[in-house]
Amino acid sequence: MTASKEYAIETRNLTKTYKSKIKTAKNQRSLFSHKEKRIVAAVNHLDLQIRQGELFGLLGPNGAGKTTLVKVLCTLLPPDEGTALVNGFDVSKQQMQVKQSIGTLFSVGERGFFWRLNGYSNLEFYAAIYNVPRNGRKERIIEVMELVGLKEHAFDFFQKYSGGMKRKLALARTLLADPPILLLDEPTTGLDVTSSRAIRDFIKNDLIKKTGKTVLYTTHYIEEVAQMCNRVGIMNKGKIIALDTPDALKDMAKKGEVAELVVKNMSSAQVQALRGMAGVEEVAAQVQDAVLGQTRLRIRLTDVDALPRVLDFFFKEKIKLVNFKQEEPTLEDAFIELTGAGVGR
Ligand SMILES: Nc1ncnc2c1ncn2[C@@H]1O[C@H](COP(=O)(O)OP(=O)(O)OP(=O)(O)O)[C@@H](O)[C@H]1O
Ligand SMILES: [Mg+2]
Repeated sequence: MTASKEYAIETRNLTKTYKSKIKTAKNQRSLFSHKEKRIVAAVNHLDLQIRQGELFGLLGPNGAGKTTLVKVLCTLLPPDEGTALVNGFDVSKQQMQVKQSIGTLFSVGERGFFWRLNGYSNLEFYAAIYNVPRNGRKERIIEVMELVGLKEHAFDFFQKYSGGMKRKLALARTLLADPPILLLDEPTTGLDVTSSRAIRDFIKNDLIKKTGKTVLYTTHYIEEVAQMCNRVGIMNKGKIIALDTPDALKDMAKKGEVAELVVKNMSSAQVQALRGMAGVEEVAAQVQDAVLGQTRLRIRLTDVDALPRVLDFFFKEKIKLVNFKQEEPTLEDAFIELTGAGVGR
C-alpha cells in the first residue's frame, strides 16, 4: 500500500483477532470444566479512510471493536491481517513515525499520573518522555493546560483533581507533543454534562477549526457525533456497517416512519379500513376526547411514500384532522435499526 497524504488514517482489510481460552462446564451438572478456544474478530476486514483535518465519529455498541481499532492504529496491538496507515506511515513497519504522528486518549486516560504531583509537574514528566523541546517546554505545558481549561489548577495536586479535571489533564497530555492526529476513545465517558460539553467544544472549535488536526472520536453517545462530526461510521462486530453524514444516517431510518394524528368523528370501521391499507403497518387508536369525538392515532408506515395515500384516505372519508405530527427519525433510530443494539445517552 502506498502512502497517501490525502488520508490521515487509512485501513485496508484490517483484521485483529483475539484468541482466548475460556473455562466452560461440559454441561450444567458437570463438576469438571474444560477449556474452549474462543476466537473473536474484534476488527474484521475493515476498510476505512479518514481525511486530513476531519473530525470523524466512530459510533458503536459495547464490544463493536472501537477500542481494538484505536489500539491497532496507535501500534499497541499488531494487526493480524491487512494494513493501516497513519499519517502515511505503516503501523506494522513504521511504528516510531506512527507514534510521533498521534496523540491517544483512552477512557481510562487519567491512569499513569502521579497523585502526589501537581498537574503541571505531571505534564513536565510526560513532556520529557515525549521529547518536547526543552527550550519552550514550560510555555508549551502552560499552553496546553490553558487550552483544556486547567490553567488555574495547574499547580494543584493531581489527587485533588475531580474526574473531569483528570480527564482534561489526560487530554492536555495527548496534545503536548502537538501531534497532527488524535485518537480519542470515549473521551467523555463518565463526565458530567458541563465537562463533556467543554471537551467537545474544545475538540470542534480549537482542535479542528483552529489547528486543523484530524480526530478519530469514538463514543456510545449518539448526540455527541450528531452535533460534532461531518461523517459518522457505525461499527458493529468489527465492521463499519454504515458511514455517512448524521443526516443521511437518519434518513436510513426513515423507512419505518411514524405519523401521529388527532382526528374527529372517525368510526371503528374507518380505523379498520385504514389498517388494511397498503403501506400501513400498524395503527394504534385511542379516544382522546369522547365529548368532542376526538381520536388519537399513531400510524406506523412501512415507508414514507405511504403518507400521501393515508392523508388522501382521510380527505376522501371526510375525516377532519385536528392535529398532525410526523415523527422525525433520529440518529438513534438509525443506529438501533442497523446494529439492533441499545445505546447509552
Ligand atoms: N484482551 C482481549 N482478549 C479477548 N477478547 C477481547 C480483548 N479485548 C477485547 N476483546 C473482545 O473484542 C471485541 C471488541 O472489543 P473492544 O473493546 O474493541 O470493543 P469496543 O467497541 O471498544 O467496546 P466498548 O464500547 O464496550 O468499549 C469484544 O467482543 C471483546 O470481548
Ligand atoms: Mg472501547
